[in-house]
Amino acid sequence: MAPDWTPADRPEMTDAVVVVTGANSGLGFEGTRLFAEVGATVVMACRTQDRGQAAASKLRDRLRNPDLRPMACDLSSLDSVASFATEFRSSFDRLDVLCNNAGVMAIPRTETADGFEEQFGVNHLGHFALTGHLLPTLANTPGGSRVVTQSSGLHERGTIDFDDLHGEREYDKWAAYGQSKLANLLFAYELDRRTTAAGLDVTSVGCHPGYAATDLQSRGPERAGSRVRGLAMRLANTLFGQPPSRGAEPMVYAATDPTVDGGAYVGPGGLFNMRGHPSIQSSNEASYDEADAARLWEVSEALTGVEYDFEASSQAA
Ligand SMILES: NC(=O)c1ccc[n+]([C@@H]2O[C@H](COP(=O)([O-])OP(=O)(O)OC[C@H]3O[C@@H](n4cnc5c(N)ncnc54)[C@H](OP(=O)(O)O)[C@@H]3O)[C@@H](O)[C@H]2O)c1
Repeated sequence: MAPDWTPADRPEMTDAVVVVTGANSGLGFEGTRLFAEVGATVVMACRTQDRGQAAASKLRDRLRNPDLRPMACDLSSLDSVASFATEFRSSFDRLDVLCNNAGVMAIPRTETADGFEEQFGVNHLGHFALTGHLLPTLANTPGGSRVVTQSSGLHERGTIDFDDLHGEREYDKWAAYGQSKLANLLFAYELDRRTTAAGLDVTSVGCHPGYAATDLQSRGPERAGSRVRGLAMRLANTLFGQPPSRGAEPMVYAATDPTVDGGAYVGPGGLFNMRGHPSIQSSNEASYDEADAARLWEVSEALTGVEYDFEASSQAA
């Protein structure tokens, strides 16, 4: 498809409620702006309330009366994710768009509060739990709802190591990132198959931003204490990265354009799919493996303790 969608094509979103994880920085921040500009109420799900408040203040200085609701959601803690979902459900009875966007990349091996390797825990398991908690609200939203999960071109470098998901035996920071981003796509497509089978009006789509110059690239080197790698990443961002506002477009397109079908993969349509306006693309063969997707789903339910209740959500819908 020709990469001809631009933010000028966003629909009016007054009355719509959108949740964006990682809304205080990079693509989440710019995505929040793009949704808020067309009237959506955006729940800025950030690691801490303070970070969410600070980002919301910045946006309030730039936009005219945006409806922004910062709420704490630390994806490295299943308790925090559950508390966020409880707070969200007590404030809203609809959820038009859930953007599973937050992430960490190529960091030294660390564990979440629940003992998961952090990249797998935050990028995949935290979002798996969050989506499961919010499924009944998504299923009950008049007019249907969308879940957009932010992956990466680097999913192609990933495999799901079911025997060592948390890199306990062997850890490579890039392999762990690739695994988490492949997991994002296996989850996005499997969610779409399962909501369709259950007759729910919930569409799930995967996306990637190409290469956008954000804080993502410098966080790994910072945590490893490597100034040289940090400088190299900053230089690469300056030379090759597109602005975060452009990088956020695939997520917003996937969330708002009715021609984007469930199970689609959206990314920049320009040079090497690293920059430009969004288009529909294909991810790698492994991401469409339904047996791996079902196995990952079972493992994710067991690890998080969050079981998706499609039947109850469908009866409630
Ligand atoms: N930029 C790119 O070129 C690129 C390419 C491919 C894919 N992506 C994907 O795009 C997504 C957004 O990344 P970005 O480029 O916008 O990077 P970013 O500027 O570093 O933003 C990442 C966001 O994720 C949040 N986050 C990290 N750990 C979290 C946790 N435990 N709980 C809640 N939030 C957490 C960060 O919060 P804090 O500020 O509190 O740390 C921040 O808001 C990621 O999923 C990344 O894998 C980016």
